[in-house]
Amino acid sequence: MAKILPPEQALEDALDILRSGEPVAIPTETVYGLAADATNGEAVARIFEVKGRPRFNPLIVHVADMEMAHRIAVFDEISLTLAQKFWPGPLTLVLPLREGHGVHGLVSAGLETVALRMPRGFASQLIQRLGRPLAAPSANSSGKISGTTAQAVNADLGGKIKLVVDGGPADVGVESTIAKVTPEGVRILRPGSVTAGDLEALTGLAVLRGGTKGIEAPGMMLSHYAPDARVRLDATELREGEALLAFGPSRIAGAGTALAMLNLSEHGSLREAAANLYSHLQALDRSGASVIAVEPLPQEGLGEAINDRLRRAAAPRGNESGSQQ
Ligand code: TXA
Ligand code: MG
Repeated sequence: MAKILPPEQALEDALDILRSGEPVAIPTETVYGLAADATNGEAVARIFEVKGRPRFNPLIVHVADMEMAHRIAVFDEISLTLAQKFWPGPLTLVLPLREGHGVHGLVSAGLETVALRMPRGFASQLIQRLGRPLAAPSANSSGKISGTTAQAVNADLGGKIKLVVDGGPADVGVESTIAKVTPEGVRILRPGSVTAGDLEALTGLAVLRGGTKGIEAPGMMLSHYAPDARVRLDATELREGEALLAFGPSRIAGAGTALAMLNLSEHGSLREAAANLYSHLQALDRSGASVIAVEPLPQEGLGEAINDRLRRAAAPRGNESGSQQ
């Protein structure tokens, strides 16, 4: 298994591993990331190998400051305003790559754009010390649930990597919002905790959803973030042999017969629900139930991101759907 170290003790080891061209699992405010030097093609290839990702999808590039961000991408005025407001934090911006950007082509999958984000805390410190951007998808095997604790990451990937940096449970619990500023408005390519309302309030622009081209909506309707059990959404009654993922003061019929039951947030907080989402799905999966029934959650605000991940967890599985990430 990998070594698990708290951030204070992990920095030098993490730097050594990154400099040797290997990935390290690190905490970020959203989910744990499997990070490697974004300028080193072999290191980036190791990310895909460790995750068992079937295809070379573009990865998010993480930077420590605006200087590094400007070296990699070209900012329009609105994207700059968004960065000033939400960075460091859980927002990823898709921007044109700048000439001489230094990011390996494998990271951007040969596109002329790059998905850029500035994380907080340990990740930022690590990037600063390395002096290079880090490519980091979520730290989980392809198609599985993203890791939100060091223990979950170690259980999934510990046999393939040397170090998991333990920053405690991730604050947000779902991956960053991915947004792209276009002439038509701000397009959300992946919902997250920076909500449509947040983006609209700051920019005064229309907020659009989904990608315009295939690559911008990677796997939107495919199986992602999937537990082993099947996931049944919007459950209003519980069936035999099911585990229950509740939300709010649960009044679901038959809940007493659940194989296992966890509540995303008893008092109905979407923030709490996002933070609990992946660890609760994993825990219910371990109960051995063949189906996890999920109570409906409101679609407003952060609910959009939670429902997005739940829909993907419930999507048909299998190789034919090309599950990824
Ligand atoms: O919260 C997060 O964003 C986490 C943490 C670790 O930072 N990272 C993460 O990265 O979720 P990843 O690589 O799993 O997600 C990358 C997503 C993919 O859906 C990918 O297709 C999209 O970003 N993406 C990357 N580059 C893109 C680009 N140039 N244009 C459009 N989408 C892009
Ligand atoms: Mg992922």
